[in-house]
Amino acid sequence: MEGRLLARARAGLEETRSANRREENRRREEIAAAIPEIAGIEKKLRLHMTELVGLALGGQGRGAEELKEENLALQARRAELLRQHGYAEDYLSPICSCPKCRDTGWHEGKICECLLRLYKQEQTRELAPLLRDGAETFDAFRLDYYSNIPFAEGQRAPRDRMRTVLAVCRTWADGFGDGSPNLLFTGAPGLGKTFLSAAIARAVAEKGAGVAYDTVSGLLSSFEKERFSRDGDEQSDAASRVRQLMSCDLLILDDLGTEMSTAFTQNALYTLLDGRLRAGKKTIISTNLNAEDIAERYGAALASRLRGEYEWLEFLGRDIRAQRKERR
Ligand SMILES: Nc1ncnc2c1ncn2[C@@H]1O[C@H](COP(=O)(O)OP(=O)(O)O)[C@@H](O)[C@H]1O
Ligand SMILES: [Mg+2]
Ligand SMILES: [Zn+2]
Repeated sequence: MEGRLLARARAGLEETRSANRREENRRREEIAAAIPEIAGIEKKLRLHMTELVGLALGGQGRGAEELKEENLALQARRAELLRQHGYAEDYLSPICSCPKCRDTGWHEGKICECLLRLYKQEQTRELAPLLRDGAETFDAFRLDYYSNIPFAEGQRAPRDRMRTVLAVCRTWADGFGDGSPNLLFTGAPGLGKTFLSAAIARAVAEKGAGVAYDTVSGLLSSFEKERFSRDGDEQSDAASRVRQLMSCDLLILDDLGTEMSTAFTQNALYTLLDGRLRAGKKTIISTNLNAEDIAERYGAALASRLRGEYEWLEFLGRDIRAQRKERR
């Protein structure tokens, strides 16, 4: 789990707790006005609590048994009054949104479902720039944008190729785990590489895995800020982002080849991709470059890692953005 996201999820839980305390107070005031006798009962119950604590600390006074019995009678009377006035018997009981963990976020030594849910929401929020309005799903991936006539003799038609690509991506997302290969999407702009990345990101995030998305230039800018920023907040935000990008279960790295290339960026990229390979963390890379471009731009070492450790999926077709313009 990523610390920064977990902290935000816990803040969300804290908000729920405060809202519940506010609601408890509101109810207490409401009842104090509607049923004055109850205010007296509550006051007595509080006093008894103090007495019980005193007894436990070795003080003198009535016996604990007597106090407990009186408390039960007071509680019964309170329940009866509430019922008579048309309220639920437990209207004044502490409110917790999650009965399992009583809003602590932990249950039987493990993270509770409710906190996990908040954590996933934070993750999905981070994916927002990729998921946009949620339109990118496998089911929404249309094949009729891809021609069923091969571009060249002896080649597969774009539609056949893309049908396979879609099926591979779907299966990959379904079976996401240790044995999955890394994926590399190549092909001209506008062929659906980012679309299918988003569909995979959503499906894998829904399984509860940590998914991060960034463009290569966005990622490099985090690396640069981590290394060179003199602004403390900016620097530590960047460091936390870099940790996430290094360690998330699935990293989607978009638009490889569009970044400014320097010795620093080349080195950062190699370190990241190599580190993720060693840690067995999965990565999906999209690029408009082909194999030769990659070797020329990034050198033999990175090119050979990408060749050996990634399954390449070549996207074929005509720019879908252009097709849409023509149809309008
Ligand atoms: N198979 C598809 N069905 C429907 N819309 C698509 C499909 N492929 C791409 N698009 C849309 O076309 C545009 C370009 O796709 P995109 O995934 O950004 O291409 P790439 O990342 O390959 O450059 C986007 O608006 C995307 O939603
Ligand atoms: Mg793209
Ligand atoms: Zn819970």
